[in-house]
Amino acid sequence: MLSIKNLTVKTKDKEILKNFSINVNDGEVHAIMGPNGTGKSTLAKVILGSSDYIVTSGSIYFDDVCINDLPTYERAQKGIFLAFQNPLSIEGVTNSEFLRTALGEKNGKPVGLYEFIKELDKATSDLQMPEGLIHRAINSGASGGERKKNEILQMKLLKPKLIILDELDSGLDVDSLRIVCDNINQYLKENKDTSVLIITHYPRILEYIKPKYVHVLSSGKIIKTGDYSLAWEIEKNGYSKINTMDGN
Ligand SMILES: Nc1ncnc2c1ncn2[C@@H]1O[C@H](COP(=O)(O)OP(=O)(O)O)[C@@H](O)[C@H]1O
Ligand SMILES: [Mg+2]
Repeated sequence: MLSIKNLTVKTKDKEILKNFSINVNDGEVHAIMGPNGTGKSTLAKVILGSSDYIVTSGSIYFDDVCINDLPTYERAQKGIFLAFQNPLSIEGVTNSEFLRTALGEKNGKPVGLYEFIKELDKATSDLQMPEGLIHRAINSGASGGERKKNEILQMKLLKPKLIILDELDSGLDVDSLRIVCDNINQYLKENKDTSVLIITHYPRILEYIKPKYVHVLSSGKIIKTGDYSLAWEIEKNGYSKINTMDGN
């Protein structure tokens, strides 16, 4: 589904990803862990085509098509979804207006109001979100945890093929994390080909959504890949030990 080959990415004055490569097959869950500032969010944003970064070499393939030159909306239309680490608030646009428009753009045709409201009501109730929330401006006055839930509400409606979760667990209390992860797992059960890239510092979220592979990112590339147990090794020993073990 997602194949990134030797990707090097920089901002105006700094190289962030260096020869980064990863392969994610249909239906696989991968976790990417790494200390602060190693380029995890940059990777997520570059997969979606953020204009803040320059790809100096390498390629990103999605379903065997090179998407390097595609604008963000086309990547989203193809089914790539990013739940942001720090979701912004947007005054003047309500959740329901935003979601109905986004869904229409993704499907290439307007969404009927009745079926939309039915689906939205079910999704907000699954996520145990307050009823009036969909008529409020996007994330207006919302707490960190509410913002994260809102990202997953978008995911449920937009039905992506590749889900990227950038530190979904930060800002969510234990109960909310469980609700949100239950919703993601239910989605994965109903959409078996969907792949997930979980960016996180903590193994807790990986207890709920089990990854097949755990990768450690350091200085812009993957320095170690293991299974679920690697996340606990990091929790116990820290990242510096992982580096030492690999001779880096
Ligand atoms: N748009 C940007 N402009 C300048 N520097 C950036 C930008 N985005 C990220 N960086 C820098 O690149 C490094 C990696 O950032 P980031 O990808 O957010 O790390 P992580 O998510 O792993 O904590 C950091 O040093 C950060 O300050
Ligand atoms: Mg980050």
